[in-house]
Amino acid sequence: MDITILGIESSCDDTSAAVLRGRTLLSNVIASQEVHRKYGGVIPELASRAHQQNIIPVVDTAIKEAGISRSEIDGIAFTRGPGLLGSLMVGVSFAKGLSQALNVPMMEVNHLQGHISSHFIDLPDRTLPHPQFPFLCLLVSGGHTQIVLVKDYAQMEILGTTIDDAAGEAFDKCAKVMGLPYPGGPVIDRLAKEGNPKRFKFAKPSVDGLDYSFSGLKTSFLYFLRDQMAENPQFIEENQADLCASLQSTIIDTLMIKLVKAAKSYDITDIAIAGGVSANSGLRNAITEEGHRRGWNTFLPEFKFTTDNAAMIAITGYFKYQRGEFAPMDIVPVARVNQL
Ligand code: KG4
Ligand code: ZN
Repeated sequence: MDITILGIESSCDDTSAAVLRGRTLLSNVIASQEVHRKYGGVIPELASRAHQQNIIPVVDTAIKEAGISRSEIDGIAFTRGPGLLGSLMVGVSFAKGLSQALNVPMMEVNHLQGHISSHFIDLPDRTLPHPQFPFLCLLVSGGHTQIVLVKDYAQMEILGTTIDDAAGEAFDKCAKVMGLPYPGGPVIDRLAKEGNPKRFKFAKPSVDGLDYSFSGLKTSFLYFLRDQMAENPQFIEENQADLCASLQSTIIDTLMIKLVKAAKSYDITDIAIAGGVSANSGLRNAITEEGHRRGWNTFLPEFKFTTDNAAMIAITGYFKYQRGEFAPMDIVPVARVNQL
């Protein structure tokens, strides 16, 4: 029988647990932390406390929803990093305790590899399309923006990365400037649907190679709004949809230019996206259209696998289990990771 893996994710502000049998997802429970909303961003100390409160009920529910008993778990996968240290610590410590109690091995997972590996999960009622190796993955989240060359389940090479802010951060920070709630990405996505993406022009960064930069866009957006508001205090309110649409299309164009460049220089036609920003409808359309034009096979993750979830941690742990790569008991979380 296929092995059963419990996955645990606690790197930022979502506490999540998932159960996989083989590659098939049996359950994926996510407790999002509402506590940060009123501060307009994640407060690390509050995040760790909420993880501490959530982790037992979330794991319990994931096991129940999967319809398994604890004794059926063959291994425990947990996020080691990158992320908020206090938050990671909750997941890592919990995984250690449970692994001792159940006498099963544990597998440490790089959160970013997790996002990419979400493309290998299957659902109980259908097989999802899986990209062929080697493929490129545009990994776009709140903390990271990278073009990754995925050679197999374990070997992933970062070809380009942001030199400052991440794409999700650009969405979130610009939303905040417009007075929109956190996280701003989904809100901008929704408002942009009603707006004209060509109405306002914002500077696109020019960075060498396959790297990205988003901090200049944030600054120019801020100055633009400040100047406009000085003349018309209602400017943001009156132009909200056009501002969102124009900003979103600038971010997407910036992402696409380097992705196309990478696909050409590595001569790769299987192209995937992953991470929270891969939920963006404009980006999903842009990848699909570019794919039609260039003959790419494009892979868009299911919405539930775009933002942080433990299913992606479980699948990455599943491959590690098969390779016999287990984590020692004295493992500690890491806030930053430079390689995949
Ligand atoms: O992957 P994720 O859940 O957490 C990190 O690992 O960072 O990504 C969260 C990010 C946030 O910046 C959020 O605004 C963004 O993903 N996001 C979106 C959308 N949904 C989530 N950005 C644009 N459009 C969306 N629909
Ligand atoms: Zn993430």
